[in-house]
Amino acid sequence: MIAGLLLCTTLGAQARKKDIPVYRDASRPVEERVEDLLARMTLEEKVMQLNQYTLGRNDNANNMADPVNDLPAELGSVIYFSMSAELRNYVQKRVMERSRLGIPMVFGHDVIHGFRTVYPISLAQACSWNPELVRQAAEVAAQESRMSGVDWTFSPMIDVARDPRWGRVSEGYGEDPYANAVFCAATVKGYQGDDLADGRRMAACLKHFAGYGASEAGRDYVYTEISRQTLWDTYLPPYQAGIEAGAVTVMSCFNNISGTPGSADPYLLTEVLKKRWAHDGFVVSDWGAIEQLRAQGVAADKKQAADRAFNAGLDMDMMNRCYDAHLADLVREGVVPQERLDDAVRRVLRLKFRLGLFENPYTPESSEEERFLLPGSLRIAEQLAEETMVLLKNEGVLPLREAKKIAVIGPIAKERWHLLGAWASKGRTEEVESVFMGLEKEFGERAELLYARGCDFDGEDRAGFAEALAAATAADVTVLCLGEKRNWSGENASRSTIALPEIQQRLAEVVSKSGKPVVLVLSSGRPLDVSRLEPLSDAIVQMWQPGIRGGRPLAGILAGRINPSGRLAITFPRSTGQIPIYYCRRPSARPHQGKYQELSSEPLYEFGYGLSYTTYDYGELKAETASIERGKKLTVTIPVTNSGAMDGAETVLWYVSDPVCRIARPVKELKHFEKRMLRSGETHTFSFEIDPERDLSFVDGDGNRFLEAGDYYVIVKDRKLKLTLAE
Ligand code: BGC
Repeated sequence: MIAGLLLCTTLGAQARKKDIPVYRDASRPVEERVEDLLARMTLEEKVMQLNQYTLGRNDNANNMADPVNDLPAELGSVIYFSMSAELRNYVQKRVMERSRLGIPMVFGHDVIHGFRTVYPISLAQACSWNPELVRQAAEVAAQESRMSGVDWTFSPMIDVARDPRWGRVSEGYGEDPYANAVFCAATVKGYQGDDLADGRRMAACLKHFAGYGASEAGRDYVYTEISRQTLWDTYLPPYQAGIEAGAVTVMSCFNNISGTPGSADPYLLTEVLKKRWAHDGFVVSDWGAIEQLRAQGVAADKKQAADRAFNAGLDMDMMNRCYDAHLADLVREGVVPQERLDDAVRRVLRLKFRLGLFENPYTPESSEEERFLLPGSLRIAEQLAEETMVLLKNEGVLPLREAKKIAVIGPIAKERWHLLGAWASKGRTEEVESVFMGLEKEFGERAELLYARGCDFDGEDRAGFAEALAAATAADVTVLCLGEKRNWSGENASRSTIALPEIQQRLAEVVSKSGKPVVLVLSSGRPLDVSRLEPLSDAIVQMWQPGIRGGRPLAGILAGRINPSGRLAITFPRSTGQIPIYYCRRPSARPHQGKYQELSSEPLYEFGYGLSYTTYDYGELKAETASIERGKKLTVTIPVTNSGAMDGAETVLWYVSDPVCRIARPVKELKHFEKRMLRSGETHTFSFEIDPERDLSFVDGDGNRFLEAGDYYVIVKDRKLKLTLAE
């Protein structure tokens, strides 16, 4: 009976399926559905799929445009600034009902380090050296976003950045290509999972392809000078890793690279991305990047800009109004080949099918309580904040086990909004835990907290200095909380100096007159020049911009409940004048000369630096054999002992160097890292399985890999081990 019923149902379904077009049949493979739909589309319908407008008022102050309230029925995508499923559904329904073929729109939004549960900025996340935790944070971000009507995020940003004057260093994973690659892959996996059609995942977008982090002198949107060699060995590896991790879209960059703007570069967009890396997703322009080709001097008007960008391989126009206005004419005139148009449309449709939008164009409505700030999401926020903070200095004052009176001073002390960092999406000030709140919870009755703001972030007003000095003098220790406003980082937020404004320096000087120990807590979106603050501080903790749950982890570190484990993913220069300064520089012709006359040429805190409350002893670095063969892996090991009294998590960073090569390689390159908890007294042998083709080889200026015979070194801390690769 049941079998009979089932048969009838199946036959009925098949009969019905015959009546529906192939593209509407979810049982057919995506590629068949794409081809079927494409074949039904008119030129104008195809062109509209390649445009993205905004819906409502933009929340990015740098991108001004009139709000669009009536969307064309065939539009491909919108940037969605709301978090209401109802509004999304209303808009989606209108578009689908009014369009001839009923193609759903894809809704994008900048979800950079969390949606409503705001996590630490990406630069801080890299300092955790914990990609699994970063993946989990991205997973939460995806869930909150998708449940709020966002299908697609413009993230991760994986622009290797070595100039902290550039405001966007906060959005990426620091100065190292490998670290960017690892955190990129983790984030993509967190956003996308295994199935984009799962209503809790969203599409990722690798940005800004490529080399945006090389902006001259840290000025945003400007020219970048990048040789093909550096493009391949420094700027492209994170993108390749992101594509390998399955990222379904890519955003082109604003910057001009050595004469060719990235948004009109066929080499990057087509040759490398689509041909060599076989990326089958699409490229969206950065906001306005197509029409800005005029300002960059390579297009006379919007039509020519559309031609340059589209023929280079840029598929979707984000708020340029170039493709909607000119692409159809360019196709009719034969300037844009029909195959190129079809290729771009295919890519956009593919994403929509993969996201399951044809089957589920609408977002199920849910309450905010069901979506946001769930206990598990907050636990990840707290854990991630804890692991991102870096102890930069400790002259024995930390942890604060004995303090009975703690002065909490400075513009960051009770700050909430600025702890969110740039691109905080739907983060809310009232949901942020300040440093002061964290200290109150942590210390409870154990210590009395005295508060004085002291001064503002900038300006001249010293009226609060006396109160600050009085608080510091009355206390056993001062926690001095200095730093940056959140809008000093992010897009269009370059600074000519990475030192804090003079007023904050002066406050530190006043507080130090108390004669009491000073613990400096820094919140910023970039490495800071703390050369003048460092001598005034007995301890320094870099807390970054930790998102909504930084207060308690910071307080836990100060109190000694938490052993700090963050390590810098970007160098802290001694002064702005040292920039660019990064660990994997190419060797100098005269290593012992060429230093600054008046300043050390070494950074204040190097890449990978970070202190702990325990000590780790590194044993002998060993390999199974001293020689390594092509096509064969070799394991190298190092035992590490937690020789102190406190449990802690240690990150072992594995570098490789190739001192003689036909292309001068960096002095050392990070190839692997592992973070692991070590109980007091515990020894663990860390290992790295070297794959010579992957870890010892090198690219040339056209992306060809080669592996030369000769000597290589594996480097861990101050240990070095020679390995020889035979012919
Ligand atoms: C930024 C992108 C961002 C886009 C959309 C642009 O100005 O450069 O990173 O994704 O705006 O908001």
